[in-house]
Amino acid sequence: MNFNLERGTSLGVVGESGCGKSMMALAIMGLLPDNMTASGEVQFGGNLLCLPEKELCQIRGNRISMVFQEPMSTLNPLLPIGFQVAESLRLHKSFSRHQAQQHASKVLDRVGLQSHKYSRSLYPHQLSGGQRQRVVIAIAMACGPELIIADEPTTALDVTIQAQILDLIAELVFEENMSLILITHNLGIVAENTDHMLVMYAGNIVESGPTKNVFEKLVHPYTRGLFSS
Ligand SMILES: Nc1ncnc2c1ncn2[C@@H]1O[C@H](COP(=O)(O)OP(=O)(O)OP(=O)(O)O)[C@@H](O)[C@H]1O
Ligand SMILES: [Mg+2]
Repeated sequence: MNFNLERGTSLGVVGESGCGKSMMALAIMGLLPDNMTASGEVQFGGNLLCLPEKELCQIRGNRISMVFQEPMSTLNPLLPIGFQVAESLRLHKSFSRHQAQQHASKVLDRVGLQSHKYSRSLYPHQLSGGQRQRVVIAIAMACGPELIIADEPTTALDVTIQAQILDLIAELVFEENMSLILITHNLGIVAENTDHMLVMYAGNIVESGPTKNVFEKLVHPYTRGLFSS
């Protein structure tokens, strides 16, 4: 696979189930399962694939964040959400407890959880799926990363909530001039939310380019199949 992502732009990644979208994301983050290795280069300043684990840890969550499909896989069910956002800031930014709490409140406000008076002290199970995903986005954004990788961030949500969460991600990406890799099965989501797109098939890119062009051309028969299904 070979692709570039410029600062401030968004890339949609589509392809059938099992074609390797999530593995690609995990490879970028250095989080592949033990029985898999990535070869080649992931240039992000330097080549991420060559970095020792310790340096990768400083990039993960700090300069590159991920949002997964299921918020409960990211959140700790036993800790209040405000604490979890603050914890990420303490870990990555070495904020004091007080600084981290203050900043966490701001970030929770920004992702739309301000209407909950005591939102900081709520536990994940007290929130709806959409609200939980907002907390995950708050954690992902808290440290001001340069790149967000969102792997099916809205697949587990109701359609109406999906649009709100995608709008939130798009707003934040725009405001902070971040880059976004948005992995999804949903071509409509790619059309509305990304500048460029890749179509993957069996671990390879079979189509890529500005989203508009890919939608117009549909060169590869596989892409045509995806679009007609
Ligand atoms: N580049 C690759 N080389 C070898 N095996 C791969 C590669 N990409 C994916 N696989 C295999 O395919 C499996 C499914 O890949 P992955 O989870 O990335 O699919 P996906 O596109 O995210 O699917 P879904 O849409 O269902 O989430 C992996 O567990 C892995 O075993
Ligand atoms: Mg996947």
